[in-house]
Amino acid sequence: MGGRSSEHDISLASAGSVIEVLRDRYDTVSVEIDREGHWALPAAVPPALEAAEHASRSVETLPVLADSSVAAALAGADVVFPVLHGPFGEDGTVQGLLELAGVPYVGPGVLASALCMDKDVFKAVLRDRGVPVTSSVTLRHGDPVEHPFPYPVFVKPARLGSSVGISKVHDEAELGPALELAFRHDEKLLIEEFVDGLEVECGVLGNREPIASLPGQIVTHAEWYDFSAKYEEGGMELIVPPPISDESVERVQCLAVEAFVAGECEGMARVDFLVRGDEVLVNELNTIPGFTSTSVYAKLFAASGISYPELLDRLIELALERHERQRRYAY
Ligand SMILES: Nc1ncnc2c1ncn2[C@@H]1O[C@H](COP(=O)(O)OP(=O)(O)OP(=O)(O)O)[C@@H](O)[C@H]1O
Ligand SMILES: [Mg+2]
Repeated sequence: MGGRSSEHDISLASAGSVIEVLRDRYDTVSVEIDREGHWALPAAVPPALEAAEHASRSVETLPVLADSSVAAALAGADVVFPVLHGPFGEDGTVQGLLELAGVPYVGPGVLASALCMDKDVFKAVLRDRGVPVTSSVTLRHGDPVEHPFPYPVFVKPARLGSSVGISKVHDEAELGPALELAFRHDEKLLIEEFVDGLEVECGVLGNREPIASLPGQIVTHAEWYDFSAKYEEGGMELIVPPPISDESVERVQCLAVEAFVAGECEGMARVDFLVRGDEVLVNELNTIPGFTSTSVYAKLFAASGISYPELLDRLIELALERHERQRRYAY
């Protein structure tokens, strides 16, 4: 939990909820990563993590200058739940570390995490699979600033979350400052067509046979779903099911699973849509969505009959199942 990204505090809140529920039924230990990237354990490591049966795990392959107690806790764990949002956590980096350490972990793997973190490459893959996405152009630092869209447009860093660095740009005069803000967070950004529609989100759960939750509509009183609408008390309301036709609900669920599969995801993801009339567009996919018990992902599954504790149990089983399956292959 924690981590170097600007979503550090959101991660701590998500992890707090996860630990509170897991603590009753599992031996848990939390590893907190500070904003500078230092890993720390609480003073006491539960005896279960030091058990001799775990000692043979090949932690020596872990090429990090980690405090030895961190390495020991990772190697001794049956499963790690990375509750990290954004760069250096949700983007395949921590997942790669866990692969090297040979420890099962919750959520999408290295490729899926890196791919889905990058809104530019992710949309290219979806387009290739025939999944409809929001139109955008990609801009790297130094590129000429051109785009074919009428105003307003959205400007966003390619690899971030929680609406950090994103602007709704109403006219040409606002474009420069918006690009400057986004370039503070990433060297690659997207200028996106504004879709004047409903915001709908859908949870996905599973490995090889993923299921979609009921979708929900995000309603905010802000002009768009910005950082404060996301995290301030009363900033948003989730309406399940969303006020769209049954056909559109089904289409959202189908496309959520298609996006999950196209992104090579396993475990979990939340897929964010924009629905304009009958048109359903994938906007983005989050591999480690906000994870408190009142976050959208948990609420959507609760409305679909899977409670928060059950969701956590299933995610842990899925992590173990994937690890077992992948161990069988010769490299
Ligand atoms: N093309 C668009 N048309 C209309 N609204 C948009 C568009 N792109 C983004 N938005 C608005 O901006 C918000 C944030 O955008 P987006 O989901 O792409 O960013 P994010 O920071 O990755 O979010 P998350 O917290 O879900 O990871 C959306 O929820 C929506 O309100
Ligand atoms: Mg989003």
